[in-house]
Amino acid sequence: MTPRPTFPLNAWYVAAWDAEVGRSLLSRSICNEQMVLYRKQDGRAVALADACWHRLVPLSLGTLVGDDVRCGYHGMRFNADGRCTHMPSQETINPSACVKSFPVVERHRFVWVWPGDPALADPATVPDLHWMDDADWAGDGSMVEVKADYRLVLDNLMDLTHETFVHSSSIGNEALAEAPFEAMHGETTASVRRWVLNEEAPAFWGAQLGKPGPVDRWQIIHFKAPATILLDVGVAPAGSGAPQGDRSQGISMWVIHIPTPATDKTCYYFWCHLRNYRVREQRLTREVLQAARGILLEDETIIEAQQRAMDRNPGRDFYNLNIDAGSLWARRLIDELIDKELAEKPAVHSIPIIPAAKALRA
Ligand code: FES
Ligand SMILES: [Fe+2]
Repeated sequence: MTPRPTFPLNAWYVAAWDAEVGRSLLSRSICNEQMVLYRKQDGRAVALADACWHRLVPLSLGTLVGDDVRCGYHGMRFNADGRCTHMPSQETINPSACVKSFPVVERHRFVWVWPGDPALADPATVPDLHWMDDADWAGDGSMVEVKADYRLVLDNLMDLTHETFVHSSSIGNEALAEAPFEAMHGETTASVRRWVLNEEAPAFWGAQLGKPGPVDRWQIIHFKAPATILLDVGVAPAGSGAPQGDRSQGISMWVIHIPTPATDKTCYYFWCHLRNYRVREQRLTREVLQAARGILLEDETIIEAQQRAMDRNPGRDFYNLNIDAGSLWARRLIDELIDKELAEKPAVHSIPIIPAAKALRA
């Protein structure tokens, strides 16, 4: 029996930061599809299957010739649509010679790819991360490769009480784990809202706010299926009106987390911290980036250990607590997308490889 997919294919996934894709060949596995990414001479990003039509050698081992990729083994060339433009030692190009080309959109500093049915790839459905392009918000991020199912990263983010225990020296404190929360959901979205009122700020937030005294802290988690999480987080001096909607005395961050499935048990975890205070201070951007790296490393350590434990205990189910309400919704929404795909087009999850000999006869 084919194992159940862990992700839908008909979705936009971040394949790379914009600056990672250039005039060289970048190989990434997105949802079990090995892709080669590069930019054409006009700057447009391209994603092709990273396996030559001829003998499956990764095209990423080849070179760029103009807008074409030239295979590093026998020199076949493919254009940005995946069509063969040159065959070694023969003038007639077999019309069936091609590699798969994936829809690409570049938006909000990321290069997004669509590994599923290209006919369904609507650029309007790329998640809205407009803060990434907004001069009122400053910050930067990175990507870390995590040896775990991307859903374990989502679970981690949909319940931030883990900050109390995993990040006790920076953003966690006791008050957080005890604060009440509210979980909600829509058709493809889920959110968790938590306020911690009139409590001491954890070290990171106290230093960022730069004002003494207790704070009101908010954590509003927005999930968009299948793999985007936006955290609306911040602190304000206690009683200054933040819970009522006036955050002017406080500081806010949008923290973007996108764990893109690489395989069923690995992911590329893209993240970015954006702030709305001291936006012209590049030193602060660097400091926040470094602090965030340390915090993420703590998450990565726990999540990879969790994946290894799961592998040692196949078939063991998770138990759920109240705090898991957000992650349960996220997983349910992902499951609905997978179910829909399996019902409509089972074939989308099994892409056949056409033997070259057969294709030549066609
Ligand atoms: S394997 Fe690419 S041209 Fe032969
Ligand atoms: Fe964390």
